[in-house]
Amino acid sequence: MIDRLTLENFKGFRSTELELGSLTLLSGLNSSGKSTALQALALLRQSYEAGDLDAAVFLPEARRSGLSGAVGNQGFLLNGELVGLGTGKDVLHEDFAGDEARIGLGVTEGPYRYRWTVAAEAEQNLLPLLDADLPAISEGRHRPGGPEATTPAFLTAPFQYLHADRISPAEFYPRDHHAAVGRGFLGVRGEHAVNFLRHHARSPVPAGPLHHPKAESDLLVDQVAAWMDVLCPGVDIRTDAIAGTDAVLLSYGFEGPLGPTHRRRPANVGFGLTYVLPVVVACLTAQRGSLVLLENPEAHLHPQGQTRMATLAAAAAAHGAQVLVETHSDHVINGVRLAVKQRRLEPSQAVFHYFRGDGTGVEVVSPRINADGMLDRWPPGFFDELENTLDQLIG
Ligand SMILES: Nc1ncnc2c1ncn2[C@@H]1O[C@H](COP(=O)(O)OP(=O)(O)OP(=O)(O)O)[C@@H](O)[C@H]1O
Ligand SMILES: [Mg+2]
Repeated sequence: MIDRLTLENFKGFRSTELELGSLTLLSGLNSSGKSTALQALALLRQSYEAGDLDAAVFLPEARRSGLSGAVGNQGFLLNGELVGLGTGKDVLHEDFAGDEARIGLGVTEGPYRYRWTVAAEAEQNLLPLLDADLPAISEGRHRPGGPEATTPAFLTAPFQYLHADRISPAEFYPRDHHAAVGRGFLGVRGEHAVNFLRHHARSPVPAGPLHHPKAESDLLVDQVAAWMDVLCPGVDIRTDAIAGTDAVLLSYGFEGPLGPTHRRRPANVGFGLTYVLPVVVACLTAQRGSLVLLENPEAHLHPQGQTRMATLAAAAAAHGAQVLVETHSDHVINGVRLAVKQRRLEPSQAVFHYFRGDGTGVEVVSPRINADGMLDRWPPGFFDELENTLDQLIG
């Protein structure tokens, strides 16, 4: 699990260290840096998957022997499947610290601290790696050529990243075997979620926090339906391949007083149902050690559904995944508080950050939660709008 993320000269962050938990909630004003923190992790992952952050290049011996300057074609790949951040001048903090235009990202996983520094070359979209501080694999596991640098677990762990802008109800969805089945990736817009669900419909959800007690069975398709039931009582979900095409169909059925209805297209049922589907699938299929990044999972859900969404994210965290949630919803925050009070999650597992940014930098306030689900601090602007409005209504 990632315990800490450090960002230096990266977009709105000049120099910030963020503690991360099993479930981390990022809140704050628009443009305050929440997505940027998720993007930093996605950027590292994207660069690693492209072969641009190969730990082997940074054997401790190579560093000791005076490594300097850019190394091979290693670096931060700014534009790819997960994030499209532009060029060096777009991501370098405008008021960068230090004499040189460098960006640093760091991650701590238990005893291991990793740090990558790149040159923020203005027009480049692969920012060359200048230095990487990677711990060596512990003694006794040395390979013949010398100690080998470790690869951070989050770079190879099962991973999902869902952007705020996701799939909307459609006639059909892509059937990309490589993404949905080979890699188990739902796509940043959740575009592969329907095909993933079609393929894994009959995979069981393991017993434990993610298992919905009211589901018809432990099969993924029934578990998804059970978790979505609060949004739309009696809903069932079906996914079908369209013969001879690279597309899959999604349809919904409902249990009515006269028995099941005929199948209905996504466009003819509520928008929120389809919009939330990838989030539900991402949480229900999270594994121990998975990293799940969710932007605004509450979007288009009614308040009770938002609280339930928080319960599901907390269940994924309790199951052993690491979940980072960007949210504007007090229902999500309160759902997590409730999960802690109900002992579904340890207080130490839930981490809250409130971002205050003015476009020139980011300030972070981090309220702590106790075992009763109470937060020790409510900085101005941190989910106080209801109170502020009520004061005016009553006053
Ligand atoms: N190169 C840069 N230097 C300084 N600040 C930057 C740079 N690039 C972007 N920013 C700032 O970083 C912030 C990025 O905001 P981000 O997308 O992380 O917001 P957010 O908190 O996720 O907002 P929302 O709630 O709307 O999703 C913006 O304030 C933007 O002005
Ligand atoms: Mg955002």
